[in-house]
Amino acid sequence: MLMVVSCTCGENPAIQVVLNNKGLQYGKHVGAGWIQEKLELITLPDISGKIDIGIGNILFTLTGTKIVKCDFPEPSVEFNQNSTGFTTSTSGLSVALTGWWRTHFGIIHDGGSFNIALFNVDVDSVIKLGKDPDGHMSVTSVSCNAHIGTVNVQVHGGASWILQPFLHYMEGPIKDEIEGKICPAVEESIVNLELSLQAMNESFEVNDNLMLDMSLTVLPVIEASSLNLGLKPFTMPEQPGYMLSAGLSEFTVNSASYGYYSAGLFQALINDSMIPSTSPVRLNTSSMGPFIPQLPKMFPNLLVDLQVYAREAPSVSFLPGAVKIDFLAAVKAFAIQPNSTQTPLFKLHVMTSGFMNKESSFFLQTDALENFAKMAMKMIVLSKLNAKLSEGVVLPRMRNAQLVNPVVTVEKGFIAISSDAELLTHT
Ligand SMILES: *[C@@H]1O[C@H](CO)[C@@H](O)[C@H](O)[C@H]1NC(C)=O
Ligand SMILES: *[C@@H]1O[C@H](CO)[C@@H](O)[C@H](O)[C@H]1NC(C)=O
Ligand SMILES: *[C@@H]1O[C@H](CO)[C@@H](O)[C@H](O)[C@H]1NC(C)=O
Ligand SMILES: *[C@@H]1O[C@H](CO)[C@@H](O)[C@H](O)[C@H]1NC(C)=O
Ligand SMILES: *[C@@H]1O[C@H](CO)[C@@H](O)[C@H](O)[C@H]1NC(C)=O
Repeated sequence: MLMVVSCTCGENPAIQVVLNNKGLQYGKHVGAGWIQEKLELITLPDISGKIDIGIGNILFTLTGTKIVKCDFPEPSVEFNQNSTGFTTSTSGLSVALTGWWRTHFGIIHDGGSFNIALFNVDVDSVIKLGKDPDGHMSVTSVSCNAHIGTVNVQVHGGASWILQPFLHYMEGPIKDEIEGKICPAVEESIVNLELSLQAMNESFEVNDNLMLDMSLTVLPVIEASSLNLGLKPFTMPEQPGYMLSAGLSEFTVNSASYGYYSAGLFQALINDSMIPSTSPVRLNTSSMGPFIPQLPKMFPNLLVDLQVYAREAPSVSFLPGAVKIDFLAAVKAFAIQPNSTQTPLFKLHVMTSGFMNKESSFFLQTDALENFAKMAMKMIVLSKLNAKLSEGVVLPRMRNAQLVNPVVTVEKGFIAISSDAELLTHT
């Protein structure tokens, strides 16, 4: 869950991500199931010790220790404002272990199999979240405590009957040995999570023209029931009913707009074959006569091409429930001569606010031409923009998760996305 949400952006206020308690609890639930599955696959390290039987020490070693059954109660994971992180605790865990025992008593060697039951294992751990100099989220262990309630040992095979009276002397060293290994293992897994977070790319290529910088610019903030990442140029509405929320500021979208503009992508050539066959107006000199009366007289029966381009990066404003795009465009019209030469006809400056500037030697019927230009923009430019937007952006960090029932709302200054998520744990 941390790897999924770990992104906010840039020097300027851009993206804010919130992990709500619902998301934390879901991550914990998936994680607990995953841990239970993994536990049953691991082989524990050998345990050695000695039992003083009065006439010397029996040295014992337990090898090939496997977990055969693990009753893993749902742990609790909570936001911890004091440590800027999480508190996790598991209590009442029971584990059944099996493996092989070997004893040395002087020159006498013996061996067989064993069963060990651990009851009432409690593990508490406090984890702190931070940010490293590269802007990756960091996790560190603040404290860990492990306690095993009782240990029960049974041995089989060999001369196990000789060991029987001494088994309860084995239980103490075994309990200490296992207890002492739990926190180092917990800490190792936190170090592994830290290494995974470090290895994540803090930037990624959205496409050939855009790169998104996802490094953290400020420390993570832990609230009573959420983890907040990112600057707060805008206040996201609390959405405790969803696992995750993300806010995307106008700044981010306008940066993308500037990126596309600089790459020369806001331009389009409109020709007659792109105008739907149902349109009464064609892109040819006779059809445009009502707008520019001289056109059919000076250039009879020629096709017209329109070159539409942005004069500035389109600027996007988010308003409650609406997105406003201010688009300063210019339209250049060319007549296509029979020998394919393009003869410039006129140039119009178009603003989506509806104003037009003319820059032409023709007398222009501006109202009608404006309507025509707007219609062409709507049909061609908007459909191109929609096609571009519908391609979407695949966030690399969502590879191991998918959003479930996301809800997008437009607020003043930002877009808010609230969603549940499904983690794909098989990867
Ligand atoms: C945070 O610290 C305060 C004061 O030290 C303490 O009362 C409170 O229980 C702590 N909360 C957590 C979640 O550790
Ligand atoms: C990180 O991103 C850069 C640029 O997109 C890419 O070249 C590099 O392979 C990525 N590294 C990893 C580990 O994904
Ligand atoms: C119009 O433009 C499209 C795409 O650029 C092109 O395939 C088509 O041949 C053009 N049609 C005419 C009549 O120039
Ligand atoms: C120009 O458009 C008119 C319809 O407005 C159409 O009847 C005519 O055939 C077109 N001329 C050319 C050269 O495409
Ligand atoms: C193409 O035709 C136009 C108009 O008839 C003429 O002015 C122009 O010189 C011609 N260009 C070429 C390269 O033939």
